[in-house]
Amino acid sequence: MSHIHSLANPPADTPLLDDVQSVDRIFEHLDNGTTDLGDKVWREPVAHYHSQAHFDAEIALMRRLPMAFCPSAALPKKGSYIARTAALTPLLVVRGKDKKVRAFLNACRHRGMQVAGGSGCSAAFVCPYHAWTYDLEGQLKNIPGPEAFPDVENAESGLVEVEAMEKGGIVYVQQEGNLDPSMLKNHFDFFSDEQEMFRTTQREEDANWKLLTETTLEGYHIKSLHKESFFPFGLDNINLVETVGANSRIIFPFRRMEKLRDVAPGERHLNGSMTSLYHLFPNTSVSVLSKHTSLSIMEPVSPGRTRIVSYLVVNRQTPGHEISLEDANRDADFVTTTGLDEDIAAACAIQETVHGPANEHLTFGYFEKAIVNLHSHLAEYL
Ligand SMILES: [Fe+2]
Repeated sequence: MSHIHSLANPPADTPLLDDVQSVDRIFEHLDNGTTDLGDKVWREPVAHYHSQAHFDAEIALMRRLPMAFCPSAALPKKGSYIARTAALTPLLVVRGKDKKVRAFLNACRHRGMQVAGGSGCSAAFVCPYHAWTYDLEGQLKNIPGPEAFPDVENAESGLVEVEAMEKGGIVYVQQEGNLDPSMLKNHFDFFSDEQEMFRTTQREEDANWKLLTETTLEGYHIKSLHKESFFPFGLDNINLVETVGANSRIIFPFRRMEKLRDVAPGERHLNGSMTSLYHLFPNTSVSVLSKHTSLSIMEPVSPGRTRIVSYLVVNRQTPGHEISLEDANRDADFVTTTGLDEDIAAACAIQETVHGPANEHLTFGYFEKAIVNLHSHLAEYL
């Protein structure tokens, strides 16, 4: 975790606009009544939101890709672990005594029981079924009654390891094949060492993982869907949309952005004037809000069901702008109690129509450029 850039200083090779350029472009859109536009309309077959065969192909793809698993801050200490299912595979991700993060298939080599659940900090993993014990590096250390297993060699019966890597404050796991670090070249750096994780949430919803992801990737629906929640603060359909490979960034400016017109560019505090949403292909979004950043993974459970797993991290402190845990919690409550529920309800309502005869395709237009980017890359990879 030593080579981490601050979010305010993205690595030089990313083509994203910097803060000053972003504000200028937002003012241009405000003055002209325009917004960033894509250049193609995409039609996604409705079958792709309910077909088991298509879902299976997506899961197979997710297992071959480096997928965001959690922020590094979720595993702060030696022995910190998270056990959860990713692409339908129970995984155990743990920070070892050497501080390196490793990922294992969460299945005892005896009879397949999951050796850990939830999250915590532990010196070893003792299988709850028959107490076979593994160390933080996955090595089998103890079998109660070893005389019953004369041909089990501890050295060959460790937890099965899969590839894991930390980059930019995020832990990535690739379940199949070798993780090629160049696959992460378009993955932005987010979190620094000193940032603290303060909340994790999980909820399951009756919607395909893509429908839930799509709700986060455009601002064309701010006024209509979020009339009482976001619209009083946010601008409708005025967004910056930048794509970087299969990933993208969408900036949602707030009304108070207008006040920055009178402030010299070097003195503008953008924090609190907009939300930046980074989409990490295919199912992760990182929302940078004023006091906290939320990393959310739309974890597929079945074609029509998704577990939304979120990790909330306190934003980086800057001199004169310290952020308390109370501030971060209040920030998080505002988002989760209002707008998020409206997005989720929309995705669940759409899930009920995708089986029916109404549409053969869902249509995404020029305002929905980041969604088109998701689907075109997904189609290419599949
Ligand atoms: Fe929304």
